[in-house]
Amino acid sequence: MEDLRKEIERRRTFAIISHPDAGKTTLTEKLLLYGGAIRLAGSVKSRKSAKYAVSDWMEIEKQRGISVTSSVMQFNYDGYCINILDTPGHQDFSEDTYRTLMAADSAVMVVDAAKGVEDQTRKLFHVCSLRNIPIFTIVNKMDREARDPFELMDEIQNELGIKTYPMNWPIGSGKEFKGVYERHSQSIQVFSSEGTHGSTAVSSVKGSVDDQVFMDLLGAPLHEKLMEDIELLDIAGDEFDLAKVRTGQLSPVFFASALTNFGVEPFLKSFLELTSSPLPRMTAEGEEVDVFTEDFSAFVFKIQANMNPQHRDRIAFIRICSGKFKKGMEVFHYQGKNRIKLSQPQQFLAQDREMVEEAYAGDIIGVFDPGIYAIGDTLCPPSHKFRFEGIPTFAPEHFARVKPVDTIKRKQFVKGVTQVAQEGAIQVYKELHIGMEEIIVGVVGTLQMDVLEFRLKNEYGVDIKIDHLPYRFVRWIENEELNPDDLNITSDTRLVKDMRDRNILLFQNDWGISWALSHNKTLVLSDVGKVE
Ligand code: G4P
Repeated sequence: MEDLRKEIERRRTFAIISHPDAGKTTLTEKLLLYGGAIRLAGSVKSRKSAKYAVSDWMEIEKQRGISVTSSVMQFNYDGYCINILDTPGHQDFSEDTYRTLMAADSAVMVVDAAKGVEDQTRKLFHVCSLRNIPIFTIVNKMDREARDPFELMDEIQNELGIKTYPMNWPIGSGKEFKGVYERHSQSIQVFSSEGTHGSTAVSSVKGSVDDQVFMDLLGAPLHEKLMEDIELLDIAGDEFDLAKVRTGQLSPVFFASALTNFGVEPFLKSFLELTSSPLPRMTAEGEEVDVFTEDFSAFVFKIQANMNPQHRDRIAFIRICSGKFKKGMEVFHYQGKNRIKLSQPQQFLAQDREMVEEAYAGDIIGVFDPGIYAIGDTLCPPSHKFRFEGIPTFAPEHFARVKPVDTIKRKQFVKGVTQVAQEGAIQVYKELHIGMEEIIVGVVGTLQMDVLEFRLKNEYGVDIKIDHLPYRFVRWIENEELNPDDLNITSDTRLVKDMRDRNILLFQNDWGISWALSHNKTLVLSDVGKVE
């Protein structure tokens, strides 16, 4: 029992979020470097390397130089066991990103020091704040010309509505970025890269602010500027409050340069202390599930098929919420209403996978899915059956009519589309009185349409024709007794059904929604549903 608690308490499971190009991949790589999980930085993802194509499916990522899938990595550092959830940062991200955040206990937000808060950061931040999880900020690329740090703090506070507390403060920026002042210990850390260009861990000298060594090292102007900044911070800044950090009301901020490793290790150390161990999840009945019980429980947050084209496998990613997982153990699959053995459990490190013998609350593992799981499903002990509360689904904002170019390929088309929909990458709607040979697809980000096209061609041998539609909003009709044919709707509103035969309205604008509601007094519409 003691061991179980210790194992769980040393776990830290977090997601890294950023706008594309802010440095998420570089930072992840450097964290792995410090964790000893890789020896030389540059091995996680080399866009120029031919070895990069783990599967055909990732070809699309290679072509576009972006990360479409979100992956999970585990490594040990300083007694902690760390699970990093990588979220796709591209502009047209999907629901996958949202769901990945559901599996994390905290988030690290990477901001480009020259650009500040960008679009994608804003969206992802919004999802994190819905769950009140701790959010840590890294102001990255301090080795380049950066904006004034005070101005950046203001922008984060104003744009994202979260208070900030700089844990450290940069000494210079660009070529002059010498190191950081650590506020808690009131000490200075000056970095030295020794010409390795960030491929190995960086060394540093640490000491008191008024040490003559540092005055000499920094030079009078930088040192004076730093002393002024510190004074201003202490007078004008927010107080540090761990309770507020833990509930996502105050974001600790770190200045760093992931590329040169400056500030990466101080961040990691401080982050691991401040962030929480695995947080409890709620059941559908609103009860908290004790993380430290012996009983294993987990939920499925992501399904990914054909990760390995040789095996054509389908993997369900589960977040363990309580207890301990042992290979071959029997669990109860709540939604399938039966006992199952979890087979071929795997963990992931960068591009490698390995079998796991045991895992604990906080960990993410992939299990072989013979087509029985859906996103949001619960695995619980056979002796104590319950289900976790559902994962929110986010309303698609882009719609298209999709059909196979060659009608003979209809069967493969239906199979492929159903698979991609089950993974949660797209939503599929049927038009009334038309079968599955022609469907309407809804996606959160338009890139998912490209992913659908690419996967159908590569995995199912089907070329598709995509006709974009002008709809922007989808609403579920909540009142089941309502006969949709009796509805009074405008001609540019379309009535469709989802895969579970629920009635849905597609609208082109807000005005259409208001019109439908005011002309159908009993109509009840909902926007985000839950997967259960
Ligand atoms: P992302 O995953 O958030 O999209 O960003 P990624 O780490 O891929 O970084 C985007 C670009 O920014 C990369 O350059 C990377 O080397 C650079 N970068 C990341 N962190 C820092 C930093 O601290 N300082 C500086 N100066 N640059 C940084 P690239 O030329 O687009 O790609 P690559 O050819 O270097 O891989």
